[in-house]
Amino acid sequence: MNVLFIMYPWEAITPASDSTLRMIHECAIRGHRLALTTAPNLTIRDSTTMAFCRMFDPAVKPSKTIETFYKQAKFKEQMLPLAGFDVIFMRANPPLDATVLNFLDSVKDDVLVVNNVLGLREANNKLYTAAMNGPGAEITPRTWVSKNKEYLQRVIRENTSQKMIMKPLNGFGGSGVIVIEKTATQNINSLLDFYISGKGNESNYVIIQDYVEGADQGDVRVLMLHGEPIGAMRRVPAEGEARSNVHAGGKAVKHVLTAEEKRVCKLLGPKLVKDGLFFVGIDLIGEKLIEVNVLSPGGIVNINRLNKVKLQKRIIDWAEDMVRQQSWSRERRVALRKTVDEA
Ligand SMILES: Nc1ncnc2c1ncn2[C@@H]1O[C@H](COP(=O)(O)OP(=O)(O)O)[C@@H](O)[C@H]1O
Ligand SMILES: [Mg+2]
Repeated sequence: MNVLFIMYPWEAITPASDSTLRMIHECAIRGHRLALTTAPNLTIRDSTTMAFCRMFDPAVKPSKTIETFYKQAKFKEQMLPLAGFDVIFMRANPPLDATVLNFLDSVKDDVLVVNNVLGLREANNKLYTAAMNGPGAEITPRTWVSKNKEYLQRVIRENTSQKMIMKPLNGFGGSGVIVIEKTATQNINSLLDFYISGKGNESNYVIIQDYVEGADQGDVRVLMLHGEPIGAMRRVPAEGEARSNVHAGGKAVKHVLTAEEKRVCKLLGPKLVKDGLFFVGIDLIGEKLIEVNVLSPGGIVNINRLNKVKLQKRIIDWAEDMVRQQSWSRERRVALRKTVDEA
């Protein structure tokens, strides 16, 4: 198949820890036609969505060793139409660029985009999980979202627990996530001012959330492929740190999903598939869902190492199956149309 990765520059890859590189390598080993591009290289030429791509030279046999493969990679620079690919993996780093989604909108009916443009748009910030609870399915901590300071102060004051979490709606990588103690009223006022007030006349939404006990033991990252868990790990936060993000110094250790964690995956899985969120990383603390990471989730390298697996194989197997099914249904339709046309 023809595969395009929209990502960060090749030179920015750290070969030892990069999840996307594992997926690229797997495609190369299988002999798929493979191209890379970055967001600023998307373009429209003569009314067709294209990208300035780096195409892997099909004549060069890829090394089985990932680091050697990375070093030896040779590219041909070419402008190629997006709709000429079977799969586009959207692997750019957060924050999500709205214009990139608009480029992808123009080919979303022709190409399998992972993750789906509509799903990326819908689940890109923390509102996706903030409004998820319902009777019988309390899978996320109770959550409040607002930019009204007095209201949020009241929420904190009236909450029975001593500790809550405050975070910006559009944050990522653990930035701006803090634990607030109800007794520290002055701090809370000042923090709310700081979080809500933006540049100029802008203001920001703030999330207030029940603090989930056990967060100091770390969180669990589960990679979900087509609604099913394919691997997990526990991330233990650094000493004196409330956030488990690897960017905030967290360390990865082996984890086997508990029955309750599997239940959360089972409840969430069908929704993810329906929303076109085929490959995501979910974060669980104490069996509560904290976050769904839909844009370029990581963790493949750590889970591979801890569980002695190669998750990239399962991901590319899945993509091949999806593409096979799509092309079969296209061919079938063409053949059946012909029967009717000629009747
Ligand atoms: N409700 C919560 N209770 C306890 N810890 C939390 C809670 N929400 C976030 N955290 C901690 O902060 C980290 C980052 O929060 P998260 O909501 O995942 O934001 P980000 O998008 O920045 O990763 C989590 O991995 C967890 O360690
Ligand atoms: Mg997170």
